[in-house]
This record gives sequence, structure tokens and C-alpha cells, in this order.
Amino acid sequence: MLLRQRLGNSGHISILSLHYQSRYQISDNNMNNYKRNILITGGAGFIGSHVVRLFVKKYPEYHIINLDKLTYAGNLANLSDIEQAPNYSFVKADIADLDDMRCIIRDNNIDGIIHLAAESHVDRSIRDPFTFARTNVMGTLALLQAAREYWESLPEKFEGKLFYHISTDEVYGALELTAPQGIESPFSTKASSEHHHAYGEEFFVESTPYNPHSPYSASKASSDHFVRAYHDTYGMPTLVTNCSNNYGPYQFPEKLIPLFINNIRHRKPLPVYGKGENVRDWLFVEDHARAIDLIFHKGKVADTYNIGGFNEWKNIDIIKVLIRTVDRLLGNPEGYSDSLITYVTDRAGHDLRYAIDSRKLQKELGWEPSLQFEEGIERTVKWYLDNQPWVDRITSGDYQKYYEEMYANR
Ligand code: NAD
Ligand code: TYD
Repeated sequence: MLLRQRLGNSGHISILSLHYQSRYQISDNNMNNYKRNILITGGAGFIGSHVVRLFVKKYPEYHIINLDKLTYAGNLANLSDIEQAPNYSFVKADIADLDDMRCIIRDNNIDGIIHLAAESHVDRSIRDPFTFARTNVMGTLALLQAAREYWESLPEKFEGKLFYHISTDEVYGALELTAPQGIESPFSTKASSEHHHAYGEEFFVESTPYNPHSPYSASKASSDHFVRAYHDTYGMPTLVTNCSNNYGPYQFPEKLIPLFINNIRHRKPLPVYGKGENVRDWLFVEDHARAIDLIFHKGKVADTYNIGGFNEWKNIDIIKVLIRTVDRLLGNPEGYSDSLITYVTDRAGHDLRYAIDSRKLQKELGWEPSLQFEEGIERTVKWYLDNQPWVDRITSGDYQKYYEEMYANR
């Protein structure tokens, strides 16, 4: 799918998809027929694959180039339904390789970047913070620098260009659990669950000071600062959004929801960190992708938008919903998998509560989630149960070793 050539001694690298050359006969010239050439990084990952799919299908007039290193978390099978689309290309590359980023951005005449590539799992960041600094900080910096150099070299410079950086609510730190029993939430959206509680009075807003606690969130915070610095220092058109926890199809089964669905199915213990009292605000991944589309096209340059569903859950409550749903769909009697719940040593520095206030995005751009949590969870559980080969393929090999190391003797 990918052809990579090093030309002579110049060190120049041109990266071409075979799509251009043979299958669709798209030449460099034809590339110019597209209205826009948009680079999406991390498109083979969980959220990135939903964003790529949405853009490829919705905008046939755009050339969508998916750039991904294909780490353990990147999986081209996530995009098998659209990989033949004429306006889609894939490039395997590392965002931390500045020379490659220069070539890819220049050779493909990129005018918009949606940057999702990252190391994304908090537990892995605790074991290996350097990889997170390399990819999330240095990788983002390389991408920013390559885009800046190319765009500044053009006659129109930054006009019509955008560097859109996807970040997380975890950069804001942790909120207090001032209402552990849950209080009526002051806000709601379509995503709000039927149970619809808030577990404190405070929410993260766009002006909440950064206060990251994990190596993952520290690396994301650092990359957010670099993105804003490139606007403030060089005038580069940038945008940052900070989203709450996503769930849905194609999430790597190291994260809570897919891991637990898979373990329930295989009757394996469900490792609940600490007392299971930590609170997360959950949003269906397709609703995040819709928000990214809207903000990419209508967002105010240099601005920040929080994205979330006003849908707070304690881990233990979500786990009970997962158990009930998987057991029902598999035809097991009620309560059949309750005994799998296993309390284990807490995650170091475990943030207590995340809760996003996304009213700015709602008010300014009219975004609202489309799916209520109960419906989203039903769809998600069904998807994992129906796609066991997808799960099996990525949970073989290295994943087994990771699982052993992460959970043995915990
Ligand atoms: P993911 O781990 O599923 O996917 C990350 C992708 O990035 C993978 O395809 C991987 O191969 C690729 N990648 C990693 N290192 C790379 C490198 N050096 N060069 C090129 N590609 C590389 O992550 P995700 O959950 O889809 O998250 C995507 C983005 O959204 C991340 O920036 C994350 O911080 C952010 N985010 C995630 C959530 C969430 O709940 N998952 C919430 C808010 C924000
Ligand atoms: P996770 O999906 O890793 O996302 P994040 O840490 O980015 O919020 O974890 C969600 C919550 O579930 C978090 O509070 C940690 C908890 N958790 C467990 O209790 N057990 C597990 O095995 C995992 C992976 C997470």
C-alpha cells in the first residue's frame, strides 16, 4: 500500500501511496484536483479511524491522508471498509521524524492537519514515560515545525491552513468527589445517561489551569502548550480541543470498557483499581468525531473547545452495566458474571474525577452528542461480541505479555 523512496544522496524522501500510482492512477497532478489535502495523524487508532472514516465518506472532494506509525495501538483493519476509497491514502511514518514530516507535508501539499497520533494509555505511561515524551511532545513539535516551514514557504503563507490538535480533559488534573452519592447534574445533553448524576459541583472549563498528574497527561499538556506557542510566536493557525473519555468500536482492549467486555466474555477476572469510585465522563466516539469535523470547519482559530457529554459514571457502576449487558446478550442468567469483579491495587496517582463542561461548544457551534449512554453501551458491547476475530487478532502476541506484566501480582 505504501511506497517509500529515498532519492539519491540528497536525503530527500518521497512518500507515495500505491493508490496514486497504480490502483487509482492518481498522480501528483491529480492530487491538485482535490479541494483540500488533509493529513490525519493516528488514523489507524481508535478515535482517528472514526475521524478518517467520517472525512473520507463525507468529503469526496478532500484528499484524506492517514499518517500512522502502526504501533501496537494502530490497526489498518479498523479502516478496511474505506481503504479502497479514491480520496484515501495511507502513509506509515513516525511523527517524531522531522525529515519525514517535512516531506509528507510538502509532497502532498497539505493544507489542514488533524493531529491525533499519540501514546494514549495512562498505565503504559507510568511504566514507560520516555516513549510518551518522545511521541506526544517531540512528535507534536516535529509536526508543528514541518507544517510551519512548509506553510511559511508558500505565497499565501498561513492563509487557509489549520493545525488542529486533539487533546484530553486529563491535562486539567483531577476534580474533587465532593458528592460521592451523586447529585442532580446542573447540565445535561443527549449523551447524559438515565442515571445522570454529577459527583461534584466543579467542572473543567476551557480556562481551568493545567495540572496534569500522570506522565500521559503531562505529555499531552506539554504538546498543547507547544501548539499554542506556535500560534502565539509564529502566527500559525492552530486549534486545540480537550475531550473526555471516549468509548465505542475499535478501541484497543487495554482501556476499561473493551478490556472488561472481553474479560467478561472469557470469564476472566475484572481488575477494578482501588475501590472503583473514580469518576469519568463518557462520550461515544462517533460524537467526538462529529465534533472534530464541526470544529475543523467552523472553529475559531487559536481557540480551545472542551468536548464532553455531561455523562459521569463511577467505574464500579459502569462495570455493573457492562456485566449486565454482556450477560444478557450472551444469554447468561442475571448476576452470572458478578463474581468476576476483583479489586486490585490502585493505579499510582489515579485521578479521582473528570467532568467536562462543554457548554461553550454547544453555544458557539451548536454541537450536541447524538447518542444516549445506554444506547451507546448497547451498540458497543454488541460490536465487540460480534467482532471477536478483531479482538483476538490484536490481543495475541505482545499483548499477552503486556497483560501479564500489568496485572500479575497486582
Ligand atoms: P490510540 O492509542 O487508539 O491510537 C493512537 C494512534 O497513534 C495509533 O494508531 C498509533 O499507531 C499512532 N501512533 C502512536 N505513536 C505514533 C508515532 N510516533 N507516529 C505516528 N503514529 C503514532 O489513541 P486514541 O484513544 O484513538 O486517541 C487519539 C488521540 O485522542 C490521542 O491524541 C489522545 O490523547 C486523544 N484523546 C483520547 C481520548 C480517549 O478516550 N481515548 C480522549 C480524549 C483525547
Ligand atoms: P482507562 O480506560 O485506562 O482511561 P483513563 O485512565 O484515561 O481515564 O481507565 C478508565 C478508568 O477505569 C480509570 O479510572 C482507571 C480504571 N481502570 C480499572 O479500574 N481497571 C482497569 O483494568 C483499567 C484499564 C482501568
